Amino acid sequence: MNFEEERIISPELEDVQEERIENTLRPKTLEEYIGQNKVKENMKIYIEAAKKRGEPLDHVLLYGPPGLGKTTLANIISNEMNSNIKITSGPAIEKPGDLAAILTNLSAFDVLFIDEIHRLNKSVEEILYPALEDYTLDIIIGKGPSARSIRLDLPKFTLIGATTKAGSLATPLRDRFGIVHRLELYEPADLATIVKRSARILEIEIDEKSALEIARRSRGTPRIANRLLKRVRDYASVLGDGNIDLKITKLALNHLEIDEMGLDEIDRKLLETMIVKYQGKPVGIETLATTVGEEIDTIEDVYEPYLIQIGFIARTPRGRIPLPEAYSHMGFPFTEK
Ligand code: ADE
Repeated sequence: MNFEEERIISPELEDVQEERIENTLRPKTLEEYIGQNKVKENMKIYIEAAKKRGEPLDHVLLYGPPGLGKTTLANIISNEMNSNIKITSGPAIEKPGDLAAILTNLSAFDVLFIDEIHRLNKSVEEILYPALEDYTLDIIIGKGPSARSIRLDLPKFTLIGATTKAGSLATPLRDRFGIVHRLELYEPADLATIVKRSARILEIEIDEKSALEIARRSRGTPRIANRLLKRVRDYASVLGDGNIDLKITKLALNHLEIDEMGLDEIDRKLLETMIVKYQGKPVGIETLATTVGEEIDTIEDVYEPYLIQIGFIARTPRGRIPLPEAYSHMGFPFTEK
């Protein structure tokens, strides 16, 4: 198990158990889906228009940090289109033949969801291009001089691709998505609504202030908010009467070493490194990764988006810099550079 998996604020799914609970909490319709208003409004129109025309929805690319509900949204889209969804991921499709098998098993109007689509390998990606563009599959049968290519027609389907790294998608792949949406980190008010909804489903008593406290410490991520809700419930049932109030919420979150801004020790180590070791001067991502002992990808996908969102760090052409808010949160005097 790597360190990332042990962290309570990791936005990645922890295990099968967590996946099962997440499934029970997942909203089934756009109406039930909280936040991401821009995406929701646009998708509503595209879905209605496609249904009116009697055509499948255009291919959709969803990108943004992990834990924001890309899989949830894909399920909702297929549900709203009244179609079936097949779920797979970039790394699971190893060979062109694997993808050919998936594509030829689709029915018309099916949604194919490929998570981590940036991890598809090149030879698989090339099969995907004609499939997306004109619903055809070119396969080569035989070997050597007798090999020949045959073209199969595929049912009209919708691909929904999800990625944390839109930048690492090959341009020809990105260009084949008619609908591209970036999911944003959630504001505390929306997260609080999600926490209250989850509490209702899981039959947990929680007051408004506690829901907001959990929301404020969930770094803009519903998956983390739902996880914290369950951990706070444990504290409430062992140390209190089972109901969640602000006192037990703060106690639990402090025990979990998540501070008032939702930062954990790695975030704080990052900020301290930038403020003290590099004296607020621009630092490269490689240097930061090495200093705190994390992968570059983890820093870029998990830590940075939230620290940028709350105004603690900024990206400049010469590297990352800490902002005055970060100094104040970490208890250091800010000095003009
Ligand atoms: N659970 C996770 N994400 C959600 C969302 N956006 N709305 C409602 N419940 C959720």
